[in-house]
Amino acid sequence: MADRKTERAGAASYSDPADPRAIISRSKFLTGATVGLGGVIGIAVAVPVVGFLLGPSFETQDWYWASFGPVDNKNFKEGTYEPVIFERGKLGELDRRVAYVRRDGAEEFTIISNVCMHLGCPVQFKATNFACPCHGGQYDTEGIVTAGPPVRPLNRFEYKVDGGMLYVGRPFATQDVDGKVVMTDTFKLPGEPVGGLLGWLYPSPS
Ligand code: FES
Repeated sequence: MADRKTERAGAASYSDPADPRAIISRSKFLTGATVGLGGVIGIAVAVPVVGFLLGPSFETQDWYWASFGPVDNKNFKEGTYEPVIFERGKLGELDRRVAYVRRDGAEEFTIISNVCMHLGCPVQFKATNFACPCHGGQYDTEGIVTAGPPVRPLNRFEYKVDGGMLYVGRPFATQDVDGKVVMTDTFKLPGEPVGGLLGWLYPSPS
């Protein structure tokens, strides 16, 4: 009986806001609530950021070989580029691209993307260089940056010749190695560096 009285007295004292034990209890509760809320906010912020950084690494894109017609097309000449508009993937007309094609041999070509490597505006070939109308980016005939803000040379497309026809596939990022364009085995978006530490921070989306 005495024990029950003690228990009841204890319970009553915790509900008394003036009791120091009740103050400690509230303090602990508030601390726990603050830490918990902070954790929830942290997760809410971190999940989209991590998803944004790592998501592209797990995405895949549908690619297919687009026919550019007969390999002996007379419009494909040595020393200059011919623009070709083509459709990529399942979206058809909604996903039209432009590639600049230069003949380097009977069945050898250089096929350059018209997407500027600064912010993605369409570059145009002007007899001796590629020029971007947006912020003054300039590239030489190989696609190497000669002026303006682009971070790397123009992307190039893979291609194959099959049955007398020229087929164009995926674009790949390129690097300027001692004044020579080297195609990498990865795709990068405009503004994304290929090499060094920054290259790791921009994973390929495909
Ligand atoms: S988008 Fe080409 S220079 Fe800016």
